[in-house]
Amino acid sequence: MRDGYKTVLEFLESDCDVEEEQEHLYNQMASTSKDMKVKETFQNLARAAKGHKDSLKRIIGSIESDDHDVSFYCLVCGWEIDFGKMPSVGNEERCSLCCQKFALVNEDNDYSIKCLPQ
Ligand SMILES: [Fe+2]
Repeated sequence: MRDGYKTVLEFLESDCDVEEEQEHLYNQMASTSKDMKVKETFQNLARAAKGHKDSLKRIIGSIESDDHDVSFYCLVCGWEIDFGKMPSVGNEERCSLCCQKFALVNEDNDYSIKCLPQ
């Protein structure tokens, strides 16, 4: 498993499974429906679920191939702090809005950040 993404990958893979189940279910309902409006509705829902599943798989792929920026929201002001691709634990970044300094940490294989003294 990709370092630092344990919980994120668990959620993404679980969501992917749900979208796949929904796609299958909607396709079944579309194929058994005799009403054209209802059939079209289920076909549209199946396409939407497939789109969600494909998007989730792209995100998982970008994480697993290290082509994904590690970023967090500043714990002080909420601005985005980007640690870039494949950062090392202990890397330090400063919030560009409030100037608070943070260090990247790894807690039980999940990236997190901690405030550093100014
Ligand atoms: Fe900030």
